[in-house]
Amino acid sequence: MAEIKTQRLDGYRRLIEIARDLASTLDLDILLERIVRAAAEVSGSEAASILLYDNLTRQLYFQVATNLDEPTMRGLVVPLEGSIAGWIVINRKSVRIVNAQEDPRFFGTVDQLTGRPTQSLLGVPLITKNKVVGVLEALNKEHGKFTEGDESMLSVLGAQAAVAIENARLFQQSDLISEFVHELRTPLASLSTATYLLLRPEMSREQQEQIIHNIYNETLRLNSLASSFLDLARLESGRVQFHKASFNVADLLFECKDIMNSKAEEEKIQIHIEAPDGLPAFEADRDKIKQVVLNLLSNAIKYNRPNGSVTLAAEAGENEFCISVQDTGVGIPEDAMSHLFEKFYRVRETEGKAIGTGLGLSICKQIVQGHGGRMEVKSKMGVGTSFCVYLPRSGKTMPRL
Ligand SMILES: Nc1ncnc2c1ncn2[C@@H]1O[C@H](COP(=O)(O)OP(=O)(O)OP(=O)(O)O)[C@@H](O)[C@H]1O
Ligand SMILES: [Mg+2]
Repeated sequence: MAEIKTQRLDGYRRLIEIARDLASTLDLDILLERIVRAAAEVSGSEAASILLYDNLTRQLYFQVATNLDEPTMRGLVVPLEGSIAGWIVINRKSVRIVNAQEDPRFFGTVDQLTGRPTQSLLGVPLITKNKVVGVLEALNKEHGKFTEGDESMLSVLGAQAAVAIENARLFQQSDLISEFVHELRTPLASLSTATYLLLRPEMSREQQEQIIHNIYNETLRLNSLASSFLDLARLESGRVQFHKASFNVADLLFECKDIMNSKAEEEKIQIHIEAPDGLPAFEADRDKIKQVVLNLLSNAIKYNRPNGSVTLAAEAGENEFCISVQDTGVGIPEDAMSHLFEKFYRVRETEGKAIGTGLGLSICKQIVQGHGGRMEVKSKMGVGTSFCVYLPRSGKTMPRL
């Protein structure tokens, strides 16, 4: 008895440490990882996972788990009716289950995807300010069954986790929205100046045409800012599910070339493709990878020089695929390299050269990381730049860098 009490006391001490740890991060990804690790630890289970609940769409999304293949699972919609997690959300109650396979509410898809059967399960709702934000589940108790003590430990952790998740989400949204609003100011200011000038009687026909042309360009920019912003906000919230399918990378590169060819011709830029025969099929979300290649190709054209060229190449290594986009453009200054993937960042020296939002590379990074891959850049001023995208073959996860 005394031993159990000491164990519990140690457990609660550990919870206090964890609470401090959770409160100290506002990065949602890092936070969720820490919560699941802590949940597996305090409940003595093999694995733990988090599902987040979206009040607006009334949907539950699988987010992270300790030892599962995260990119495949992330964003997977788990039905509210017909899943244990859904039951927890609707009833706002914890559950302790000895054999999940025999429970009629059990949603088997997660098990099928991971190939790891769930036996015992302990789930608690994540509630803050009377709102359910998600569900925390501990899976497969290592020794024996989940106890009442485990349930109360996980509930305490859940309460702390819910507050921390809410804070991180608010921070993320306010951060992104305030940056977006800031970015809106410049085009709005130039639109307002342009319309004011158009109304001036002394403007010549030629000047008016020039102003209308500027207005048109600014609205184009606002339009792409809005759609890129939405893309990024969705990707950052972790609600995008990647639909993986097998496809031919060389075909994808030719398709991207076709889409961008007229733009390249306008700038007198040649696009070459280097893809060896017999490249193995690649498994990923084709549309999203196409978005990455198009973004990189568009940059390679925009920041190139007249009569320059772009080489799109694909290669298959033992464990990963590499897609590279190499240009003969202006290059990127050394001090800008570490900021390239930041939201809204544009290199000052080349900002005036082409229209852009500074979100393209942030979107690419989110998509590539969502596939468990990474990106590398090499650049030499006046010579050119190459972006390489490394993606794991067979949908396996690579460690994040
Ligand atoms: N191939 C390249 N060569 C030189 N500079 C580049 C290259 N690719 C990107 N950059 C620099 O990095 C910045 C960020 O690129 P990113 O694709 O994120 O935004 P963008 O191209 O400005 O806008 P968008 O992609 O929304 O049109 C660019 O503004 C440019 O300064
Ligand atoms: Mg771009």
